[in-house]
Amino acid sequence: MMRLEGKSALITGAARGIGKAFAERYVREGATVAIGDIDMDRAQESAAEIGPAAYAVYLDVTDQNSIEKAVAAVEEKTGGLDILINNAALFDLAPIVEITRDSYDRLFNINVAGTLFTMQAAAKSMIRRGKGGKIINMASQAGRRGEPLVGVYCATKAAVISLTQSAGLNLISHGINVNAIAPGVVDGEHWDGVDALFAKHEGLAPGEKKAAVGKSVPFGRMGTAEDLTGMAVFLASADAEYIVAQTYNVDGGNWMS
Ligand SMILES: NC(=O)c1ccc[n+]([C@@H]2O[C@H](COP(=O)([O-])OP(=O)(O)OC[C@H]3O[C@@H](n4cnc5c(N)ncnc54)[C@H](O)[C@@H]3O)[C@@H](O)[C@H]2O)c1
Repeated sequence: MMRLEGKSALITGAARGIGKAFAERYVREGATVAIGDIDMDRAQESAAEIGPAAYAVYLDVTDQNSIEKAVAAVEEKTGGLDILINNAALFDLAPIVEITRDSYDRLFNINVAGTLFTMQAAAKSMIRRGKGGKIINMASQAGRRGEPLVGVYCATKAAVISLTQSAGLNLISHGINVNAIAPGVVDGEHWDGVDALFAKHEGLAPGEKKAAVGKSVPFGRMGTAEDLTGMAVFLASADAEYIVAQTYNVDGGNWMS
């Protein structure tokens, strides 16, 4: 049975990685999916790969005008937005004494302001239409606890968990469920970049950090993007109607809360 039949979804940062895996799975579940990304070439490539129910939409989550245009494009294409996944995010790493204003601004702008204002534009659209909706924010185990070299990113993901709580409580009166997913360590291009940063700051060989974090997951390996898709379908489905303002760990047992 397809669980998202006829639904219209917008997924930010879905040109690659976890967002792309969500788009693929949503299409298999019967949804039409807008792949919103600043990387239009890659977004178009991914949409073509996924098939006719996926389409690329230019979206820079740091630009209010771009957010509103993307939501309007989804409304025009599909008649209304049912599901938003706030997935676009940036990572950076530095000891506290080396954190730059530039890194702080970039990460908070995309990970926090991007999530809040894309959520706001989607909520306005859903409220206008009057049919409720589902919003899923991508948090992280990094939002559950600080890490010595990951201060800014951890703080942005703690903010995403907090915004999920406030927005969840505020928007449920409109029939909009806001929840979040907190992945652990997910293999892919993103983690290749993380691995390179750890190698630089901890003096490790390339691949060493990745191997170590994979080994320490109770499940026995790093996650894959596909490991997260079940939760993303569930939270967007009618089965999640009574779930409000929660953040779910999908991390092979790394974190318990
Ligand atoms: N990979 C992991 O281990 C992991 C762990 C925990 C949480 N997460 C979270 O999951 C989500 C997806 O992670 P991923 O590993 O697939 O990341 P990724 O880096 O592979 O993909 C991010 C995408 O966001 C896009 N993007 C960047 N800036 C943007 C902007 N301003 N507007 C729109 N799009 C923009 C990029 O072009 C890219 O396609 C993120 O929120 C990330 O923080 C990832």
